[in-house]
Amino acid sequence: MLLILGDLGLNEGAHLLLKRALAGVAVGDVVLVEGSAPELAVHLRGWCRAQGHEFVDEGGRLQVRRGSAQSGRWRGAERAGEATKVVEQANPTWGLAGRSATVEAGAPSFDFPLRVRDEVWAEEAARLYAQAAAAQWDPATAIPWDAPIEHPDEVEDAVVQVMTYLVENETAALIIPARFTAQIHPHFREVMQLLAIQVADEARHIEVFTRRALLRRPRLGLSTAGAQTSLKTLVDEPDFALSSFLLSVLGEGTFLSLLWFLHEFAPDPITSEVARMAAQDEARHVAFGLAHLTHHIQADPTLKERLAMAVHRRHDALAHSAGLNEEVFDALLLLAAGSWQPDDLRRGWQRIQKLESDMDEGRRKRLQRLGFASGDAAQLSSLHTRNFM
Ligand SMILES: [Fe+2]
Ligand SMILES: [Fe+2]
Repeated sequence: MLLILGDLGLNEGAHLLLKRALAGVAVGDVVLVEGSAPELAVHLRGWCRAQGHEFVDEGGRLQVRRGSAQSGRWRGAERAGEATKVVEQANPTWGLAGRSATVEAGAPSFDFPLRVRDEVWAEEAARLYAQAAAAQWDPATAIPWDAPIEHPDEVEDAVVQVMTYLVENETAALIIPARFTAQIHPHFREVMQLLAIQVADEARHIEVFTRRALLRRPRLGLSTAGAQTSLKTLVDEPDFALSSFLLSVLGEGTFLSLLWFLHEFAPDPITSEVARMAAQDEARHVAFGLAHLTHHIQADPTLKERLAMAVHRRHDALAHSAGLNEEVFDALLLLAAGSWQPDDLRRGWQRIQKLESDMDEGRRKRLQRLGFASGDAAQLSSLHTRNFM
């Protein structure tokens, strides 16, 4: 094959023509190169050495013999799996490369602690991610911020107290998946993306709950030691499976009932709507927690016992935190009652009882989906934190 470069030098882009010509001949075949660029022979010799081809200069007749495919820079390169299939263990040296990329030998090794498929993966991750991406909403337009607020001051105080509590719970729900997002090997891209969008969901929840609280008040309400102690046990849990179980399955699962309750009994349309929008997002967070833990338990049946122990451990750690949730509880009661009339308060109280039994039922149902027998599910549900999350 003859390649005519004219006066184009290898340092001016002629190497692309050369690569294309070599790609068109078999290994061992020769491309004859003609050109008038200064020092062409010198440049060709260096380029061929770097690329793993043979250079021959027969009295000014310049030839390049194509080297074997695995020569040169790409010798020892490794394919980072297949585009549409995940491997059981992702290789640390694949690093940040996308699935199916060819990774040059000598690329640095990254320390992603979560690189075993069965510890993070769920087939549902891609579908849930697509669903989440399609369901992103704009807090500025999705919430009727200008709707009237006509209830008494004390009811507004109750709203502010509930929002204050929600904000700190949402903050825990943001920083926990954010941390694990950075620990998951990027080979499991769909899981990484799903957790990232979950973090974005929580950022939005923090925003709308804060904004609702500050609509009529200059500051948030009370943040109790008990509630924060409960959340700290979540934030401090280093294990992905245990953390997802406590946060997503039990905590966010319980929050689903709470948010729908707030949607129903909110004293104004703004509060009602922020609760509804957040609840829709939370359903996805719960679904992913259940999906990857189901996968993980199938691969490792001993996990179930560890999950149960985590609930007991958390319960014991929180056993001495007194007055947990009292301010929030009273605020919820007032919202559910809608007034200070004794009959209304009794009805509010009954609604709270119903809420707590809905929460318990939801937890038991999810625990059974993970394979817990109904008696074990009932016991574990009863040990769940009074802080709900
Ligand atoms: Fe949330
Ligand atoms: Fe969430």
